[in-house]
Amino acid sequence: MPNEEMLLIPGPTPVVDEIYEALAQETYAHTDPRLVEKFKNSLAMSKKLFNTDGEVFIVAGSGTLSMEMAIVNTVAPGEKLLVVSHGFFGDRFVPLAKAYGIEVDVVQSEWGKHVDVSAVTEKLAQGGYKAVTVTHADTSTGVMSNLEELVPAVKKYGPLFILDGVCASAAIEEDMSKEYGHPDYKIDVILTGSQKAIGVPPGLAIVAFGPKAIEARKAMDRVNAYYMDILRWLPTMQDPGKYYATHPVNMIYALEKGLELVMREGLTNRYKRHLALGKAVRAGLAEYGMKALASEDVAAPTLSCILYPEGVDDGEFRAKLASKKMVVAGALADLKGKAFRIGHMGNVTEEMFVKAMELVGETLNEMGFEADSEKAVSTFRAVYQEGLN
Ligand SMILES: Cc1ncc(COP(=O)(O)O)c(C=O)c1O
Repeated sequence: MPNEEMLLIPGPTPVVDEIYEALAQETYAHTDPRLVEKFKNSLAMSKKLFNTDGEVFIVAGSGTLSMEMAIVNTVAPGEKLLVVSHGFFGDRFVPLAKAYGIEVDVVQSEWGKHVDVSAVTEKLAQGGYKAVTVTHADTSTGVMSNLEELVPAVKKYGPLFILDGVCASAAIEEDMSKEYGHPDYKIDVILTGSQKAIGVPPGLAIVAFGPKAIEARKAMDRVNAYYMDILRWLPTMQDPGKYYATHPVNMIYALEKGLELVMREGLTNRYKRHLALGKAVRAGLAEYGMKALASEDVAAPTLSCILYPEGVDDGEFRAKLASKKMVVAGALADLKGKAFRIGHMGNVTEEMFVKAMELVGETLNEMGFEADSEKAVSTFRAVYQEGLN
């Protein structure tokens, strides 16, 4: 089933034929050994993706459910959480945690910039934080967090490090066994969804808990959740044939295929491809006078928030592109109308973005702006090839 549109929003991302075919297979019983096998494969590949010797939980739900699962199972009501936010999705942890009676402090960056790490350590030095959340790539701003700096800065003070990988997993390295300068400085929880760089339709919440995070859950008598309680899910994740709640059977077929494609490409190649693609998309669009909100040193490989040149109307620009079957997303909060967001992650190709460069040029011309698409395409291709070499 070829896609009719180029879905270049920051998730969901274009779904390839192999995944559609997997999704469209006959629905087995949720305890059928054939499904169990696929579930086990998906768990094993997820563990490989995050390089964890902990446990991965795959349940029906969106990224927000995975955020909630990460928090509910690690931080008890009345305990303290520090939210490190690079934008809209970082901020989402604040009301989410407050809904469970957790005490929340937040360190926010200016949109498009990195947080000030000294502000994070100042908070941590006051003590008492059970966990810290960091959003790997914030989908509102296109900023990627600097894990090399943040993991040791946080872990030095002892809290659990919770990473929101919804807009990063399978495109940017997320390695739970990696020691960030000390054997104890590791990522404790990674939460993600199926619909972004993994390239599977929306519908699965995927959460990896490292040994310390599992210990933290075990140390709590109970949590304010039933469906989200990882200890209730654990026997099922160790043997997916054991019923706890009905598995999203066809989505598991799709995930197995999606992760197979990730592993077939190889994680190192995939990370390199995304890095090259992000740089190339921003360089190509810059030929049209379109600047990314985030500078290259903080920009995410997965999506970009692109500021419009003076006079370009957001609604008209995106509607014209959509009529040419290229879909990009509007910007959020204060940037609404001033920028658009383009996803460049998952199972996308160089040719798709050559087409995207051409369509953006054509659209700008139709709107009365000068735009040299040949130049944009050639810059895009050159930067992409340079990034791959
Ligand atoms: C970084 C990040 N975290 C969390 C979410 C929430 O995921 P969902 O919309 O699947 O609930 C999103 C959604 O775009 C996101 O980009």
